[in-house]
Amino acid sequence: MKFAARLGLVPPYLFAELERKIEEKSKAGIDVISLGIGDPDLPTPAAVVEEMQRQVARPETHRYPSNRGLGSFREAVAAFYGERFGVEIDPEGEVIPVLGGKEGVAHIAFACLDPHDVCLSPEPGYPPYTSGPLFAGAELHYLPLREELGFTPDFDAVPDEALARANLLFLNYPNNPTGAIAPDALFPRVVDLARAHDLIVVHDNSYSEIAFDGYRPPSFLETPGAKDVGVEIFSLSKGWNMTGWRIAWVAGNSDVVESYRRLKTNLDSGMFDALQLAAVAALTTARDFPAEMSEIYRRRRDLMIESLAAIGLRASPPKATPYIWVRVPEGYTAESFTELVLEEAAVVVSPGPSFGPSGEGFVRISLTVADERLEEAARRIASSLRVEATA
Ligand SMILES: Cc1ncc(COP(=O)(O)O)c(C=O)c1O
Repeated sequence: MKFAARLGLVPPYLFAELERKIEEKSKAGIDVISLGIGDPDLPTPAAVVEEMQRQVARPETHRYPSNRGLGSFREAVAAFYGERFGVEIDPEGEVIPVLGGKEGVAHIAFACLDPHDVCLSPEPGYPPYTSGPLFAGAELHYLPLREELGFTPDFDAVPDEALARANLLFLNYPNNPTGAIAPDALFPRVVDLARAHDLIVVHDNSYSEIAFDGYRPPSFLETPGAKDVGVEIFSLSKGWNMTGWRIAWVAGNSDVVESYRRLKTNLDSGMFDALQLAAVAALTTARDFPAEMSEIYRRRRDLMIESLAAIGLRASPPKATPYIWVRVPEGYTAESFTELVLEEAAVVVSPGPSFGPSGEGFVRISLTVADERLEEAARRIASSLRVEATA
């Protein structure tokens, strides 16, 4: 059999590799603690589960959904954007459901990029900012996120030739994997850049509801002019512990929303109506749930930062996201440190370079395990470093 060459354009999906390693160890009877994947350990809010149960039992939800989404879903999103961000969204043409942010990211690339267009993608970054454009036949121009710039892109360093051919820019704040937040000047600068170079901006806002210390992450769409140049992808996965449900949306520029809809009518038949109605419950009845989750992650963040500091590992406490971006100890690469903690401590962390080359020197720790397991992981990492130091 011959398969499409495009499958060879991207490395094996990071988390597929991690899952394989975890399974291998677990099969050998080893108790592995995975801090590798950002998959919340706690359940979806009860109000959402109950609404889903109710809606699943209604025959009206059993037929084909529409790709545009239910009016009540789109109105709930518009009301949420109004209350949370002060952003006006027209439920008629400025919002559409997507089957998880990941699907949204990948397919927006298909809707916005022709072969030989350039896509500006931050790295380290969420892997579909790379795979989506490559599968669409486009070229990538990476935007390295460096610590000295607060993990924001240096737009001045992008060559004119890349800007001239670029048609799409991905951005993501609060950021995965670095945990960085957007400085005030960033989004206005992005709107100016997009206007000057005719770029479509896709801001991936998967983490705005997981934030700490009084910080309230903004929506890109709050920025004057943002809706003229782009859209935002918002996911219920992290804030509402709904990674398994596959619910997100694209909101903002109506031409981008419409182009995505045109593409998607040829690929699938929309989101299960019952799921959209459960999402409405998340945005209304369970509206305050992410604040409760944020408090849990804040406690875990502080616990982990303290444990890391005690063994000499440097990390600044993130103001948002359930991730800590940790510099590896002197003498290690990201990969050798990941290997050490996997083999000696049976703890899985994500090596920085798996999010892009500028991730070298860092690993990402996800706070999506119970406090006791986090403490145990920190203890094990400490003893693996001690063993290594005396070896
Ligand atoms: C930056 C970013 N965008 C999107 C997603 C995907 O979210 P979803 O579960 O909605 O596909 C993730 C998940 O880890 C993410 O980190």
